[in-house]
This record gives sequence, structure tokens and C-alpha cells, in this order.
Amino acid sequence: MSLQEEINKRRTFAIISHPDAGKTTLTEKLLYFGQVIRSTGTVKGKKTGKYAASDWMEIEKKRGISVTSSVMSFPYHDFHVNILDTPGHEDFSEDTYRTLTAVDSVVMIIDSTKGVEPQTIKLFKVCRMRGIPIFTFINKLDREGREPLELLSEIEEVLGIESYPMNWPIGMGKRFLGIYDRFQNQIVRFKGDEEEEIIPLSDVSKHGIDENPTYQDTLGEIELLEEAGNEFTRERVENGELTPVFFGSALANFGVQTFFDTFLQFAAQPQPRKTNEGLVEPEKEQFSGYIFKIQANMNPAHRDRIAFLRVCSGKFERGMSVNLSRTNKTIKLNQTQAFMAKDRDTVDEAYPGDIIGIYDPNIYQIGDTLIGGKAQFHYEELPQFPPELFKRVQAKNVMKSKQFRKGIEQLVQEGAIQLFRQELNDSLILGAVGQLQFEVFEYRMKAEYNVDIEFTPLGERIPRWIKSEKFDKRFFDSRSMLVRDRYGSYAVLFENEFTLRYFLENQKEIELVDLFEENDYQGVTAHK
Ligand code: G4P
Repeated sequence: MSLQEEINKRRTFAIISHPDAGKTTLTEKLLYFGQVIRSTGTVKGKKTGKYAASDWMEIEKKRGISVTSSVMSFPYHDFHVNILDTPGHEDFSEDTYRTLTAVDSVVMIIDSTKGVEPQTIKLFKVCRMRGIPIFTFINKLDREGREPLELLSEIEEVLGIESYPMNWPIGMGKRFLGIYDRFQNQIVRFKGDEEEEIIPLSDVSKHGIDENPTYQDTLGEIELLEEAGNEFTRERVENGELTPVFFGSALANFGVQTFFDTFLQFAAQPQPRKTNEGLVEPEKEQFSGYIFKIQANMNPAHRDRIAFLRVCSGKFERGMSVNLSRTNKTIKLNQTQAFMAKDRDTVDEAYPGDIIGIYDPNIYQIGDTLIGGKAQFHYEELPQFPPELFKRVQAKNVMKSKQFRKGIEQLVQEGAIQLFRQELNDSLILGAVGQLQFEVFEYRMKAEYNVDIEFTPLGERIPRWIKSEKFDKRFFDSRSMLVRDRYGSYAVLFENEFTLRYFLENQKEIELVDLFEENDYQGVTAHK
């Protein structure tokens, strides 16, 4: 098969949602369609995300590196599917955000009983920032949920993206009859027990459906959508301006396969990616890719790590020599790992869109570019993501300050956690997206650097970076704390929305940047 054909059939995506919306259940159904698992209810580590963090660490310690659940890769019809896991429960972290830089499209699950929830908003913003096409699956239709029209307007208002319902529920909860498939002009009747029946619109009366008042209501709503709804264009989906919306039930396996088939048809194949030399097309013969995640082994006896590389161009072959752009060193890639390959764990070849695991003897950093042959370019830097939780940190034993500094420096460089210094007293503050990052940090400082650390929680804070070149430092206090990040750029950690708003109203001359809204880190590095 030619490189072009391999690229055309790749679909690399992530599923984003708030915890409990149904990500595990949906993923399991997709793996079932792909014949990766024989029955549902069996996904390894299904509950991993629900363990308390300490349990999770025990598991990680026992099992070593848990890469198999991070990427799920399988053939399905004419496609080669790569699903990247985005940890969402207690293990929500910056890695979750970084993973989103390595996909070509995203499936967003919304719980029909809850609507758009906080974690979905954060993950959505990251996708938005990168212009990734987003497909929406509104789940749990077998339950009494919120009105479909209300859910759509919430998506449009809260997330600021237009929506196009590909299908429409006929009732819900107890009155749930099935879905009206606008896209394929058919009714999919819900029969319970993972069964569905497809009825072409022309045959509706034969089945007596048209007499049902719930169906009559649906027809009214469909008419409204046809008249007042958005127009569907492939281009707007590809640009991330319009999200195709599907209703269904992951648990009842209802509407899932139709969703998946349509999604694969419209989801983007591997796209050109930005480098310092302009865009690099996936069809470029020269192999290239970048590292978006490094997973350390929690077992102190094995210090090795696995680097996750997204293949961006050309063909990867095991044993090939690549150039690490940052250091201009040549490395032979022998120990590589595929994910969920049926009968081998070594990957022999990979194509754009694929993720490979590379054995890392502590030489890689997040964002590193690897290129077959001579290095000529590097992929754009990964964005800096704003942390939410902050803790002051110090070594319990001052005698250990040398190891303490070394440990922090390395773990921060690895992207495990973010480091800030309070301007007022030079104390060290760690910032993370999820609580687990602190626990992993504490564990690794002890295991790898033999340092016990002490945290003083600062709670949730809202970070904003300062764009203005000059400002008066007297304006800051403990509620709007002035800090410098690890690059030396100034940021402010606001105690809450109120202190942020107060500051915005009173300090108009100080320009602040929300890295979620405009990932304009270049703009703030002026303070370096
Ligand atoms: P997550 O990975 O997004 O956190 O969600 P997960 O799939 O674990 O689903 C969260 C809960 O919602 C689970 O119930 C799951 O069975 C349920 N669920 C998922 N899809 C549907 C659906 O379409 N309809 C209904 N009614 N429920 C759904 P649980 O009781 O927390 O776990 P379990 O013990 O049933 O596994």
C-alpha cells in the first residue's frame, strides 16, 4: 500500500468529556466494533480513572508502565483507527491537554441529563485553540434528559460553536422510540437490549410509527431545524466551526455504530503540521514526528521511560536512524512499542497519524522532533497550559536542598508539573492541572531523588500572564499573587473570579493574557 493510501485511511482522535458522561462505555463499544474485545464490560482498567490517586499509584507501581490503555489502535472497515486516551478523573493532568495536540479530530461526549460540564469546557477550549474538528455525541438518551433543543443551544452559547444535529431523538427516557436520522433519511428504532431496527422514512407508516404522538412532535422539531438550523458543510466541520451532533446511548449500544461510521467518514485524516520551516505534509517521504508525552516508570527499579511520538510525515521503520532536532544527535530506534497490536508488541512500521512508544533512556523532552536522516526543521512548540491548583513546596530537610533543586528542575523540564517563584519572597510554587500531578511529583521526588517534600496548599487559583512590559509591583498581594514562571515571565495567581475582576477593573494599564483564550505565550515571554 502506498504512503498516500496509508494516510487516507488513518483516523486519529480523542474522546473528551466530563467524568461519568460515558467515555469508557463508548470507547468500549468502539473497541467491540473493531473486534479488539469480544464482549463489552471488559475493558482492561475500565475503572482506572475512578481509583483514588493512591490506589492508582500502587497499580502503576505494580504494573510498571501502563501504555496499553493510552492509545488504542485497530483496523475498522477501510480505516485504521487510533484512539488516544485523555485521562479525565483524578488523573486529569497536563498530559490530557497535550494529548489533544496529537489528534486530528475529537469526539465530545455530553451527558443529556447534565449538559455542558466544566471539564468538557476546558478540554473543548484546547481543541478550539488548535482548530481541531469536533464531533458531539449526546449520551444517555435512555434516561429522562434535558430537551434536545435546550442542549443544542447550551453547546452553542457556552462553547461558542455552531451545531448541526445529524440525527434527532424521538422522545427520551420511557418514551424513547429511537432516532430520526436526518443524514441518511431513516428511522432507527430503539428495541432495548442493544438492538436497533432501521426503517427508511418511506416505510414509516407501514410500521405504524407515524401515528405515535411522540413521533409527530419530532417531525415538528425536525421542520424547525430545517428552517432555522445551521447549514452543514464539510469545510466548516473541518475548520472546527460547526460540530455535527449525534444522539444515542452508549450503554444501550444505541446509535453508536451509525455515529461511528458517519464520524469516520467526516473525521480528518492526518493533516499538515506547523514547523519552523512552514507546513510539513504527511505525504513528505522523510519520516518525522514529535513527542507529546513522556511516561515515567513508577517502579524505582526501572528508571526508564516511554516517550509517545506522533508520526507526522513519511514512514517509520523499526531500527531506522533518526535525528533529534534539539541536540542534533542521531539515534537508532530499535525499542519501539505499538499499542494494542494483535500479536506483537513491537512496532515494525508506522505511518502519519500513528502513535509509537519509544524507549527513553532519559534523553527526550516533551515537544522534541525526530526526523529520519538529517534534521532540517522542528515542529512548533507545544503550548503552555494554565494550571489550576497551586502548592508551595519545600524540602523537609534543608540538608537535601541540592537533590531537591535537581529533582524539581528535572521533573519540571519533563513537563510533569509547572514551577513558579513568588516575586515577593522567592518561595517555590508548583502548579498543576490535576491533584494527581502533585502526588506523582511527591512520589518521584522520594523514589528518584530521595527527598521528602512538604506542601502548603494555595488552593485553586486563576493564573493570568502579564503582557505589559512595565508595571507597578505594589498592586499585588496574597490574593493577586505576583509570580514568575520557569521562563522568567510574570504571571498573577488570582484567588478567585472576584479578585480577577476587581483587578481588571482597577488596573486597566496592566494587560493580562489567559492562555486558554489566546495561546499567545510568545507574547508574554518578553520578560525573560
Ligand atoms: P466516563 O468514562 O466518562 O467516566 O463514564 P463511564 O463510561 O464510566 O460511565 C459512567 C456511568 O454512566 C456508568 O455507570 C455507565 O454505566 C453509565 N452510562 C454510560 N452510558 C450510558 C447510557 O447511555 N445510558 C445510561 N443510562 N447510563 C450510561 P456507573 O453506575 O457509574 O458505573 P457501572 O457500575 O455501571 O459501570
